[in-house]
Amino acid sequence: MTTPVIIVHGGAWSIPDDIVGESRAGTKAAARAGYAVLSSGGTAIDAIQAAVRVLEDDPCFDAGTGSVLTANGDVEMDAVIMDGRTLESGAVACVHNIKNPIELARNVMEKTDHCLLVGPGANLFAEEVGIKRVPTETLVSAKAVRELQFYHANYDCTVHDLFRQRGSGHDTVGAVALDVNGNVAYGTSTGGISCKKPGRVGDSPIIGAGGYADNDVGGISCTGHGESISKVVLAHQVIAAMRTGTDAQEAADKALANMASRVDGYGGVIVLGREGDVALSFTTERMSWAWAKEGTIHSGVNPGEDFREPVDVTNGDVANGDVQNGGASNSDV
Ligand code: GLY
Repeated sequence: MTTPVIIVHGGAWSIPDDIVGESRAGTKAAARAGYAVLSSGGTAIDAIQAAVRVLEDDPCFDAGTGSVLTANGDVEMDAVIMDGRTLESGAVACVHNIKNPIELARNVMEKTDHCLLVGPGANLFAEEVGIKRVPTETLVSAKAVRELQFYHANYDCTVHDLFRQRGSGHDTVGAVALDVNGNVAYGTSTGGISCKKPGRVGDSPIIGAGGYADNDVGGISCTGHGESISKVVLAHQVIAAMRTGTDAQEAADKALANMASRVDGYGGVIVLGREGDVALSFTTERMSWAWAKEGTIHSGVNPGEDFREPVDVTNGDVANGDVQNGGASNSDV
């Protein structure tokens, strides 16, 4: 039996001071939800869906409720899920009025012959599988509105420059899991980037760019500037390096360094090797993350953090009293 592990991120980027606590609490809650599934013998895919759903439902994060807004104030979301056992995947892009896009992505994987449905077709499919539309305003947070107003007031909508100058509170949520049967899965969900043009799709729903899962190697979920991630095919770089024996941490660090030097792009990754080895790395100011293994949950937001506490899997709760274990860098846990 394999020791189960889950790692989640709540997005890279600047993460203002006033939401750091909320971000860490949110990523821990998601890791706990996924770990509870794995600890009771559930599948990696079920754990991913459970964890990502928690993040989508938390307005602190840029996915589901709390998604950032397009230039015209709309909510367009992308999500993906992938099963490392079969390499089956399902994704949606530019989908509107869906509370949990990760659930819709899973339906694409399990109930169609396709990997990716977009826009009105994705919403039509949601109706077919009984996923209800929710009003746009229920997905919009005050934070997302403020962020769009700032972008409109200060910058042209040239994606890369405004993203680099201002950054954003968060970008994208994701999870990678390894279950007791040694199966790997990953999922990612996002509202994309603030002030994006309607119809813009980032890296997240594109396997190989924003993430990947393969039982033979491991899994990865990316966060950061989607156009940059797509140009360097970030997830593929990490998985390809691991496939030839590079360890997960080195593969993650090198791929992010390459993205910075090659296209001046920034972001973060969470990675799980097939043996349950955990790595995370980010080149942004902050990234909220948490991972759980062998009854301990680790978490952090700032470079170098690694808070640890026990996970009580009997009630899904954790004991009070974080212990900070110093020494880790933002590219080394
Ligand atoms: N990384 C998410 C996006 O750029 O859409």
